[in-house]
Amino acid sequence: MILVTGGAGYIGSHICAELARVGRDFVILDNLSNSSMDAVDRLQQLVGRAVPFHAGDVRDTALLDRIFTEHAVSSVIHLAGLKSVAESVANPIDYFDNNVAGTVRLLAAMRRADCKTLVFSSSATVYGAAATMPVTEDAPCMAVSPYGRTKLMVEEMLSDLHASDPAWRIARLRYFNPAGAHESGLIGESPRGTPNNLMPYLAQVASGERSALTVFGGDYPTPDGTGVRDYIHVVDLAEGHVAALDFLADNPQDVVLNLGTGSGTSVLEMIAAFAKASARSVPFEIAARRPGDVATCFADVGRARRILGWTATRDLDQMCRDAWRWQLVRKG
Ligand code: NAD
Ligand code: UFG
Repeated sequence: MILVTGGAGYIGSHICAELARVGRDFVILDNLSNSSMDAVDRLQQLVGRAVPFHAGDVRDTALLDRIFTEHAVSSVIHLAGLKSVAESVANPIDYFDNNVAGTVRLLAAMRRADCKTLVFSSSATVYGAAATMPVTEDAPCMAVSPYGRTKLMVEEMLSDLHASDPAWRIARLRYFNPAGAHESGLIGESPRGTPNNLMPYLAQVASGERSALTVFGGDYPTPDGTGVRDYIHVVDLAEGHVAALDFLADNPQDVVLNLGTGSGTSVLEMIAAFAKASARSVPFEIAARRPGDVATCFADVGRARRILGWTATRDLDQMCRDAWRWQLVRKG
């Protein structure tokens, strides 16, 4: 049985869909702070059966102990956490508590249950402004926000844990920019309030919910002056998690892996791709850079290909088509 913390969220719900597709049993723990029961209902509709779900917090030790015992959990995919860079700057304590203390509680519960296999949601944000692109897992880490530092702190804790007890099997997955939605149109990203990220904002502009996209910076040292990122289809990302679990089953290691596509797309290229997929116009205006943003970030995906035998297969057009389909469903 696989415990998926944060399984009602954007990435977690797609991982659960993929686990169901390949016939793995899972149980979700989520406090619904950034998701809803609607997502769980839709996931159940997608997988065609009831999904074991616990509404609760990853910092709740008694609840964790109950889940590990009740479900005989043998591995954990840990996504539960807060993820807004801006919010982490304004309120770092919440981020330390949810992301770092939450992980400590989880690890302690795992040890009590003798469950020592963990896949952790890290982020390319740990690279900060890396000197060379594509960025490899061996590049120096230097997070620039409290959010990024929580990811780095957890990664360091996991490294220490494995050094203390090599029976732990750990995959630290550094996601680049997850985007898109499940092609069924049943699950996708549902940001609360104004989206921080490009893709959900674009979808809302194309659908007329928002009037125009603000492009943060037109003077970066990139081919068209706008920021370049490695957008990865969320279903490819989900498949990467199953590959990581399979790898850990055969290899008692602590591995760090980039999950991206290996190629970069600019904001203007993304706008054009989304306009094409949605057959809508996407008004935009170029404004000042967003503090903390880097010019370019894309992954070296060689290690993931080599050791997991996994690569992302879905392209930008599919990402935009799937995000658009979900936007239409979500708006109803
Ligand atoms: P999300 O907010 O949609 O999902 C996170 C889920 O965790 C939510 O359902 C939320 O309710 C739950 N949660 C938060 N704190 C919790 C707690 N203390 N106890 C129990 N549940 C809790 O975000 P997402 O985009 O699906 O991201 C999932 C993970 O991947 C996060 O750890 C995030 O930091 C990481 N990540 C995301 C991105 C991205 O761009 N989306 C990039 C890199 C890494
Ligand atoms: N952008 C805009 N306008 C917007 C939103 C974004 O121009 O309204 C631009 C950004 O400046 C950047 C690109 O679009 O050049 C992508 O921005 P996102 O906010 O979508 O993504 P980031 O690369 O800034 O960050 C994301 C997640 C982080 C994670 C990081 C690396 O939000 O949590 O990817 O994984 F750490």
